[in-house]
Amino acid sequence: TMKKKLIAGNWKMNGGLAANEALLRALREGLAQQAPACDVAVAVPAPYLAQTQALTAGTAIDFGAQDVSQHEAGAYTGEVSAGMLRDFGVRYVLVGHSERRQYHGETDADVAAKAQRALAAGITPIVCVGETLAQREAGETEAVVKRQLAAVIHLNGHCISEIVVAYEPVWAIGTGRTATPEQAQQVHAVLRGQLAAASTQADRIRLLYGGSMNAANAAQLLSQPDIDGGLVGGASLKAADFLQIIAAAR
Ligand code: G3H
Repeated sequence: TMKKKLIAGNWKMNGGLAANEALLRALREGLAQQAPACDVAVAVPAPYLAQTQALTAGTAIDFGAQDVSQHEAGAYTGEVSAGMLRDFGVRYVLVGHSERRQYHGETDADVAAKAQRALAAGITPIVCVGETLAQREAGETEAVVKRQLAAVIHLNGHCISEIVVAYEPVWAIGTGRTATPEQAQQVHAVLRGQLAAASTQADRIRLLYGGSMNAANAAQLLSQPDIDGGLVGGASLKAADFLQIIAAAR
C-alpha cells in the first residue's frame, strides 16, 4: 500500500527538561544521518510540549500529547483542551490509552468525545484499544477490541481515515511480554475488517501495534500485513533503541 508506517513514542509520565533535550537531540542527529522511511512522532507530557515543539522544528519528528479533554473550554480544573494543544503545534494525541481507561475510568463514550474534540481542532487522534489478560483468557479479545473501535467509527462529520488506531494488548504493556507477530496480526485483521465494513477508506487507516515493542522484535511485528507502525513506550525513552525501531519500519 502507499501509506507510510508510523512509529510513535509514548513517553508516559517520564522525562524532564534535561533528559528530553538529550533524547530529542539524539533522535534529530540519528534521523539526519539516516532519513526515516516512516513517519516519526513522540507523545510527551503536556508541560514539555513547548520544549518539544522548539527542539523538533524543521526535523522529521512530529509530536503529540498523551490525552485531551473531552470538553471545549471552561470550568474543568486540570484539563487540557484540544485548542490548547493546537496552539503548540501538536499533530497527534493519544486517546483511550489503557492506562487512562484503567486508572482514570475512561469509558468508550469518553474516548469518542475526546477523539471528536481532537479532530475538530485538526489533531489526529491515536485511538488505543486492547484486551486485558483476563479478557484474552476468557476468549473475549475480539469482542472487546471491536466494542472499543465501534465507539469511534462514526464520529460526527469526520472520515474514519483521519484517525490512527493502536492495538495494545494490556498484558503486553510494560511487561516485556510482547504479542507474537501472529497474535498481533490476527487482531489487526479483525480491526481492519471492521473498518472495511464501515468505510471504503479502511485501507488508508494506520493500525499500530503497541506492547513491549523493542529493537529486537520490531522488524517481525512490522512485517505483518496489517501492522502499519508501532506505539512504543519504554523503548522510546532510549534514542538508540527508538532509532532502531524506526529503521525497522519500511
Ligand atoms: O503506549 C505505549 C504502550 O503502552 C507500550 O508501552 O512499550 O512500554 O510496553 P511499552
